Amino acid sequence: MNASAHLQVTGLGAGYGGFAVLRDIHIDVQPGITVILGPNGAGKTTLLRALAGLIPRQGQVLLDGAPLPAQDATACVRRGLALVAEGRQLFPQMTVTENLELGGWLASAAERKRRLAQAFDDFPRLKERATQLAGTMSGGEQQMVAVARAMMCGPRLLMLDEPSLGLAPRMVDELLAIAGRIARQQGVTVLMVEQNVRKALSVADRGYVLERGRIVAADSAAGLLASDVIRRAYLGTA
Ligand SMILES: Nc1ncnc2c1ncn2[C@@H]1O[C@H](COP(=O)(O)OP(=O)(O)O)[C@@H](O)[C@H]1O
Ligand SMILES: [Mg+2]
Repeated sequence: MNASAHLQVTGLGAGYGGFAVLRDIHIDVQPGITVILGPNGAGKTTLLRALAGLIPRQGQVLLDGAPLPAQDATACVRRGLALVAEGRQLFPQMTVTENLELGGWLASAAERKRRLAQAFDDFPRLKERATQLAGTMSGGEQQMVAVARAMMCGPRLLMLDEPSLGLAPRMVDELLAIAGRIARQQGVTVLMVEQNVRKALSVADRGYVLERGRIVAADSAAGLLASDVIRRAYLGTA
């Protein structure tokens, strides 16, 4: 098993062109599950993309104490960071197996084969559907393929951007349970953006609330669940 990763973000800024979305973000992602909450447009996706090296950023990002390069997505994958992007981004005309194999693009053929066997052990439903075209699967199954494909990178830090978006409640529970297994049994640190606030906080250890590009609250998951501000703004209970 890989040792769980610790991600420390200090003074991070990011945006698009001259437009700043995130300013002076400080987060500390410990082993376990950390959830990022916040309204649409707050900058949650921008944060994960900046951490994954997909867009430029300022500030310092340390993975287990060593700086993570900015804007070098391949180096980030090599260092053990994987992102399941919003909207899954599978190859719909390729089979489940082919999609998964693509996730192991940096690994040797032998290692890729080992990880594929592991993925099918971890996701038995995908094993049954190994030869099905990804585009013909249900939304929940496609999201499972996307998570399993990210696990094919052999990550130590897995980032999930709204994994349960558009899924039925039962499937939301299943995906959050998968995130829980990845963090607690496989020892992969999970950083996840979720709109299902109550469910996400019930599986997470810690959470941050991002509003208009700034962190406005940081606490244990239990602390956030009990906080009046969170209850009013995100849980719909006055
Ligand atoms: N590719 C892009 N180019 C320019 N602006 C963008 C781009 N992607 C997102 N934005 C803007 O950045 C802000 C934050 O977006 P995003 O990170 O997607 O928020 P969230 O994931 O919290 O809904 C929004 O104002 C959005 O319009
Ligand atoms: Mg988003």
